[in-house]
Amino acid sequence: MSDQQKIRFLLNGEPKEFQASANEKLLTVLRREGVKGPKHGCGEATCGACTVLLDGQAVYACILYAFQAAGREVTTIEAVGDFDRPHPFQTALVEEGAVQCGFCIPGMILSAKALLDENPTPSDEDIKMHMDGNLCRCTGYEKIEAALHKVIARNAKGGAR
Ligand code: FES
Ligand code: FES
Repeated sequence: MSDQQKIRFLLNGEPKEFQASANEKLLTVLRREGVKGPKHGCGEATCGACTVLLDGQAVYACILYAFQAAGREVTTIEAVGDFDRPHPFQTALVEEGAVQCGFCIPGMILSAKALLDENPTPSDEDIKMHMDGNLCRCTGYEKIEAALHKVIARNAKGGAR
C-alpha cells in the first residue's frame, strides 16, 4: 500500500529497517519479521504478553505504533540470555518451576529486566507497581514472585545480576 514507509531502529543491538504502514503496531511488524518472542495476547494493553523494551523501558508492543520505535532501541526476549548464559531471572524461574504454558514468560522477563536494570533490589511495592501489567493465566504468580525475590536476594548479597 502507498502508506508503507521505512522504519529504522536498533533491534536487539542490530540496526534494522522495516516496512510498515502508518497505523501498524510494533508487535505486528516484529512478528511479521520473524521475531516471535513478543506474544499477541489481548491486543489491547491488558495482558503484557507483547512486552518489549523501548530504550530500556517495558512497553506494550501491541499498542505502540511501529513508527514510534524509529531511531530508538527495541529489545525482545530473543536478546535476553540464552541457554548457556540465562538472565538471572530466567535461572530463578527454572529453579522455582515457575513456568507452565510459557505464554506470559517473555513479557514477564522483560518487565523484570527493566525493573532490575533500574534497581537490582526493588521493594515489594516497586515490584507490584512494575509487574502488575503482566498477567499469567496458569501459575497463580506465587512461583514467579518467588523467582523474582530469589534474584533480588542474590543481588542484595552482591551476586551477579
Ligand atoms: S497483547 Fe499487548 S498487552 Fe496483551
Ligand atoms: S505460564 Fe501460562 S500464562 Fe503464564
